[in-house]
Amino acid sequence: MKRVAILISGGGSNMVRLLESMTDDHPARAVLVGSNDPAAAGLAKAEAAGVATFAVDHRAYRGDRPAFESALLEHLDRAEPDILCLAGFMRILTPEFVSRFQDRMLNIHPSLLPKYPGLHTHQRALDAGDAQAGATVHLVTPELDAGPILGQARVPVLPGDDADRLAARVLVQEHRLYPQVLRRFASGDRTPVLIAE
Ligand code: GAR
Repeated sequence: MKRVAILISGGGSNMVRLLESMTDDHPARAVLVGSNDPAAAGLAKAEAAGVATFAVDHRAYRGDRPAFESALLEHLDRAEPDILCLAGFMRILTPEFVSRFQDRMLNIHPSLLPKYPGLHTHQRALDAGDAQAGATVHLVTPELDAGPILGQARVPVLPGDDADRLAARVLVQEHRLYPQVLRRFASGDRTPVLIAE
């Protein structure tokens, strides 16, 4: 049974879907949910699901990313996770932190990578006139949003879409995609999961 820790920054809807998926014959179990924001709404959702939580407020470590990450690691190391899932975690991690979880840290990103790493992905897809948008789950490497792809979900861009409407439809697919990727990854299979709306 693989032990999974999840990092969030906000509402944690992807995190909740991951927790809900890890039941019965699933090859993994959630052991810890953490956030860089003590007020992240997702923390209460994880607690309600019976999962231990922690927060390390990044604002207390302004300008000292290694110290922030050391504090994160104190919590994470105690939980001895085999897999670390970033689920709406909005802090950039140093190469040193990434190397601690090499080949076992996953991230979900709201674009069809390699298109649109970074922020404002939906607006950028709309501005480019793309016919499709989506989300990607990938292994985290030191380069932002550039690691090997473990799964993608596609949605059509519809007439009248704005960034919010597109984001909402992509999020529905994120909720399908991330649990499928985690299940496959935890069982040792890295074949990409490809789904469409
Ligand atoms: C999701 O759309 C996720 O793809 C995105 O943040 C949202 C978090 O929602 N992640 C990133 O932008 C990472 N750069 P959630 O907290 O409801 O899961």
